[in-house]
Amino acid sequence: MTQDAKIKYAAVGCGGMGRRHLRGFGALHHSSMANMQLVAAVDTNLEAAQFYASEAHDLYGIEVRAFASVAEMKAGMPDVQAVDVTTDTGSHHRAVLACLEQDLHVLCEKPLAITTGACDLLLAEASRRHRVLSVAENFRRDPINRLIRALIDDGAIGEPRLMIETTIGGADRIVITPWRHMKHTGAITLDEGVHHADMLRYYLGEVATVYGETRLHEKVRHNTRSSGPGGFYARYVNSFPDTIEPTGEDAIYAHLRFERGTVAHWVNDHAGHGRGQSGRFVYGSKGSIDSPGDRNGKPVTLHLTGHDPISGAEILQYAPSYRLEPLAAELFGGERVWTYEFEFNATDAKIMALELFELGECIRTGATPEVSGEEGRRDVALTYAAFESGRLGRPVTLDELLQASHGPAYEYQAEIDRQIGLL
Ligand SMILES: NC(=O)c1ccc[n+]([C@@H]2O[C@H](COP(=O)([O-])OP(=O)(O)OC[C@H]3O[C@@H](n4cnc5c(N)ncnc54)[C@H](O)[C@@H]3O)[C@@H](O)[C@H]2O)c1
Repeated sequence: MTQDAKIKYAAVGCGGMGRRHLRGFGALHHSSMANMQLVAAVDTNLEAAQFYASEAHDLYGIEVRAFASVAEMKAGMPDVQAVDVTTDTGSHHRAVLACLEQDLHVLCEKPLAITTGACDLLLAEASRRHRVLSVAENFRRDPINRLIRALIDDGAIGEPRLMIETTIGGADRIVITPWRHMKHTGAITLDEGVHHADMLRYYLGEVATVYGETRLHEKVRHNTRSSGPGGFYARYVNSFPDTIEPTGEDAIYAHLRFERGTVAHWVNDHAGHGRGQSGRFVYGSKGSIDSPGDRNGKPVTLHLTGHDPISGAEILQYAPSYRLEPLAAELFGGERVWTYEFEFNATDAKIMALELFELGECIRTGATPEVSGEEGRRDVALTYAAFESGRLGRPVTLDELLQASHGPAYEYQAEIDRQIGLL
């Protein structure tokens, strides 16, 4: 594609994840299917936008203009058609709305917004203006998760009966940034938990009911000066306080029933001391699947009754429908990749390239993105289901959660909406 035919876009939010998305642009830029051109960087902290622009120049030799607001950017560069929003979670509803109001198509980092009510604002505006609203939910785009989904759909383990989704760790450390521990800016259980809500739904379809509880275990957290995923936060950690007093819950414990009848046990505990755990297992009427986790490229293991565990290339026989889309096949080395070996940052960038590419294709063809605004909203609703169930002391249905403030299960989220001025 010629440079002129590419869709010009701006990065909005130039912190840790924004800089990871810049590497995603790089992976797309160097592929044979580059369809997006980064031309601007916007951050309310202009220094962050300028640093991002200088990194873009150093890494890819491109000219990126820095701005402190989307309105200034659009006024100065009217041919920009799209934005890639990676502002902190609690600001998504404001940042994305500002972009939609400028008639820009949007790719927004997960979670789409801090409550389902905040998501509704964005869905309504995107629909009114006929703009693409896509959510950057990266775990499901890992080829290994595509393979697992095909194994389930193709009946490799028979009828799924149980999924166990577990994340335990974190102790009393500040996880990545202080804002991830505050209820009104996107607590870690929303910020990280929403990935797992998406994986549960991606593997097994829609959830019917949730019974759960949440906790705020750690009342004080400490800055361990960790450089965070991919090392991108080293630049910021010295500006964080030594200790913080969290207001947002750090653990979800939930029992789910899917519409298809499968149940799931979901633990998302970021206050775990002792032995950390991270596991994802699906059990069915003929066998089980062990996921190796996300973005590490390790093989999946299939256990079938009466067979030795299967984790080599022969696993592909059990997933005949498995095919990666063309750009994923190019970036990961084949249509039916069952394992890969790349550094974390390289894998991360390839997956983000897929998200950016899809945005460009949706703008060009009018197609709906895989994780549309509505899908992203459902992930937020599922994440909050255990919060609302715990408040009400009863199971809640996902339908109740999807009714947002009009429904009977919106106590916890209503408190956030009041605090941020939406109710
Ligand atoms: N998918 C993943 O694997 C993954 C990983 C990390 C973060 N994330 C998501 O990315 C988002 C950003 O996280 P982060 O760790 O980079 O946060 P961060 O705090 O490092 O960076 C956020 C940046 O946004 C800027 N900002 C805030 N409001 C803005 C606005 N209205 N307009 C423009 N800029 C604004 C801030 O100044 C800051 O530079 C979060 O939603 C988070 O959930 C996703």
